[in-house]
Amino acid sequence: MLELVNVAKSYQSPGGTEQVCVLKDITLKVKKGRSVAIVGPSGSGKSTLLNIIGALDEPTRGQVLFDGRDLTKLSDVELARIRNQEIGFVFQLHHLLPQCTVLENVLVPTLVDKNLVSKKEVQERAITLLNRLGLKDWLLHRPGELSAGQRQRVAVVRALINGPRLLLADEPTGSLDEDASQNIAELLVELNRTEAVTLIVVTHSAKLAEYMGRVLELSNGVLKDRAGPR
Ligand SMILES: Nc1ncnc2c1ncn2[C@@H]1O[C@H](COP(=O)(O)OP(=O)(O)OP(=O)(O)O)[C@@H](O)[C@H]1O
Ligand SMILES: [Mg+2]
Repeated sequence: MLELVNVAKSYQSPGGTEQVCVLKDITLKVKKGRSVAIVGPSGSGKSTLLNIIGALDEPTRGQVLFDGRDLTKLSDVELARIRNQEIGFVFQLHHLLPQCTVLENVLVPTLVDKNLVSKKEVQERAITLLNRLGLKDWLLHRPGELSAGQRQRVAVVRALINGPRLLLADEPTGSLDEDASQNIAELLVELNRTEAVTLIVVTHSAKLAEYMGRVLELSNGVLKDRAGPR
């Protein structure tokens, strides 16, 4: 479902004219329904890579094939549709809207294309998912009233609300304590199985990485399997 072919990314060095090559030559195939962790030192380009996979950023060179479509060749309109409908994102900080309730926050991605499903249907899906993630009593509360772990679970529901085929998470447990981290890790794995959503997680946590079917290490611009693929 996802294939990266000779992907490279360079940035202009700060102030200079030099190019800094963050990703050198990334080739990767991820089949539908698999779970993958990307680990590596700080600054190795993990977020850059995840953003390229999620069409939030463009590679300098190479192809990103998502279900056979080359993301580097699609129009902005088509990319926006894919980001909204086919890919879910979870970040280290939840980015929930403080003035909106939990339920409203989760429904934000459904406001983009209101014609796709009925309001009632999508609301039911939101409530079902929130129930499943133990947030049933929090629907009408605001993010500020929730714990960090609960907020991150809301962010996971929001990422899943449009039924994406690919879920990308950048340090989803980075701001959580050990118990809450484990909870999110187990949740991601369960959703990977039950929702048949392909999962790519960037993490510093060796523990979270172990939950994934495959662990890849990014170092010096190159991506390598740490453990053999399952
Ligand atoms: N927009 C940008 N312009 C210039 N350089 C950038 C830009 N974004 C990232 N970089 C550089 O690319 C490198 C990789 O950054 P990236 O955020 O992908 O690393 P990371 O592996 O996610 O790090 P961390 O684990 O700390 O989150 C860093 O050296 C960073 O300074
Ligand atoms: Mg990062």
